[in-house]
Amino acid sequence: MTTSVSAYRGTVLHFLADPGESDDPHAVQLFEDGLLVIEQGRVKAAGPAQQLLSSLPKGAELMDYSDCVLMPGFIDTHIHYPQVDVIASYGSQLLDWLERYAYPAEQRFADASHAREAADFFLTELLRNGTTTALVFASVHALSVEMFFEQAAARNLRMIAGKVLMDRNCPEGLRDTAEGGQRESAELIEKWHGRGRLGYAITPRFAGTSTELQLELAGQLARDHPGTHIHSHMSENTDEIAWIRQLYPWSRSYLDVYERFGLLRERAVYAHCIHLDDEERGRFAQSGAAASACPTSNLFLGSGLFDFDASLAAGMRVGMGTDVGGGTSYSMLRTLSEAYKVAQLKRQRLSPWRAFYLATLGGARALRLDGEIGNFAPGKEADFVVLRLASTPMLERRMRAASTFAEKLFALMMLGDDRAVAATYILGAPGYRRQGA
Ligand code: GUN
Ligand code: ZN
Repeated sequence: MTTSVSAYRGTVLHFLADPGESDDPHAVQLFEDGLLVIEQGRVKAAGPAQQLLSSLPKGAELMDYSDCVLMPGFIDTHIHYPQVDVIASYGSQLLDWLERYAYPAEQRFADASHAREAADFFLTELLRNGTTTALVFASVHALSVEMFFEQAAARNLRMIAGKVLMDRNCPEGLRDTAEGGQRESAELIEKWHGRGRLGYAITPRFAGTSTELQLELAGQLARDHPGTHIHSHMSENTDEIAWIRQLYPWSRSYLDVYERFGLLRERAVYAHCIHLDDEERGRFAQSGAAASACPTSNLFLGSGLFDFDASLAAGMRVGMGTDVGGGTSYSMLRTLSEAYKVAQLKRQRLSPWRAFYLATLGGARALRLDGEIGNFAPGKEADFVVLRLASTPMLERRMRAASTFAEKLFALMMLGDDRAVAATYILGAPGYRRQGA
């Protein structure tokens, strides 16, 4: 007899809430000998293997991942696919880096075949790193969004992306107009938003590259399409912040600019949010918007240190972002490792429990997709990652020295990378399998 049920045996870890520093069982579900049961692309159950094995239907497929941790797929809440070729570009901070590296690279996305090839590479790289959902900047070219969504749809991925809006302070080849950008965005929403697992994000690059009219029209689009996301950058770099103050002399703060134009709302996600004060954090949290913390980018570009404690204490939704190509890795493990170090520099502690929460359910909450993805609650879409604990000689040795699972998880977070990803599953089907795994 055949059945559509498959089961995966290993250490199963997922989250029900923000665990803070502890492994509070109200927030953390950990089954060291666990079973993840999938039916028709959705989670049927997650629990102790001993309990669930006997309830499997006859003919169910059983995979043994007994030296691995099964977790919900990672969620990258901020990344730029047209920056695949400028990752690790030397010697500058944000505004100079944009001019010298990011903008020239993005101009190439006027070309469909380049965009298609880059999207293919980019999505393959996400899957190789265990990331199953991302909120993605395309370029200013509508075609770059088309190419991205085509590639994402072909892989059955839950992805959110949008055409960049930028109508000033950028090279001519990357400039749209307020009305043209609005029209193209509306057409892309019509064609792609809600098609399969795809969602659209209205994407003004940042306040520095849009006129007030463009931000106003973006806000209008966001009101007309409340189910879409808004995706932008905020408060990343101190020179940037001073420049925004000059461009918008009437504003009290950077946040004020987006708020004025109706761009601070549920499903709005702002990358960085480093240099906010407590009053801004409170307003941000109230609005229902989310911050994407991007530690590898913030360190690489010398932008500053995200305040995890203050942001979470203020009630802000927070997810993790790689921000490739300002960021230096597609790996959520590398990203969490740098996040830990950022927290250390702020005299804060980022526990492995909270870190993996932020990379999974926290990200889903930031994107307001926690009804669909983010943990192994029954009925959720079965996007998950299989992480090998001992993926390198160093990790193998460190794991042998560890006496608790918490210790192992922390070592995985600090020392792991793409080599730890044994497999990535999309809707219960293999989307990537590491050779030899
Ligand atoms: N702010 C505006 N554009 C960008 C970008 O491409 N990367 C980063 N890190 N910050 C930005
Ligand atoms: Zn960015």
